Amino acid sequence: LPATLLCLAFGYLLGSIPFGLILTRIAGLGDVRKIGSGNIGATNVLRTGNRKLAAATLLLDALKGTAAAAIASYWGAEAGIAAGFAAFLGHLFPVWLSFKGGKGVATYIGVLLGLAPIMMLAFAVIWLAVARITRYSSLSALVATAIIPVVLYATGSEKVALLFAAMTVISWIKHRANIQRLLSGTESRIGEKG
Ligand code: G3P
Repeated sequence: LPATLLCLAFGYLLGSIPFGLILTRIAGLGDVRKIGSGNIGATNVLRTGNRKLAAATLLLDALKGTAAAAIASYWGAEAGIAAGFAAFLGHLFPVWLSFKGGKGVATYIGVLLGLAPIMMLAFAVIWLAVARITRYSSLSALVATAIIPVVLYATGSEKVALLFAAMTVISWIKHRANIQRLLSGTESRIGEKG
């Protein structure tokens, strides 16, 4: 049990590092929470116009999930699942930002890479397909996160499927403003400053 608790704490702390906020600040772009959607994720960093910074945010927010899951997996599959979940929660609810974090898409992808790498490819294919057709980052994430747990369950990894189903539900709740904007036709598209 102490090992599991340690994995949870380690995952949470890693996940709670708000790379989007840190990178935009270092680059002198001000507070990313004051532009666009107000989110700290890669999509909103892209609205600063700095593509490299957005790519770095995506990569680092993903890799913290990968690292948490992969390192904790040393103590067994369940420790890996626990740490991945903790990293995801750390990103969404970071203590450093009064628990007002991101929507978890990059970290979701990173935890996939750590626990079910093939599924990360599936996620990427779905995300890119929806993004190509609609140019909505949020919709692409909503569709991809809806499909992944089903595919995971169908391919037999029940515990991992349950983890991602939980992460999907929580991420969808965090996307509720995006869902409202999608329904009212006011969501900003990739490449728009929004
Ligand atoms: O990855 C987050 C994305 O789905 C939505 O981001 O900034 O458009 O709310 P944003």
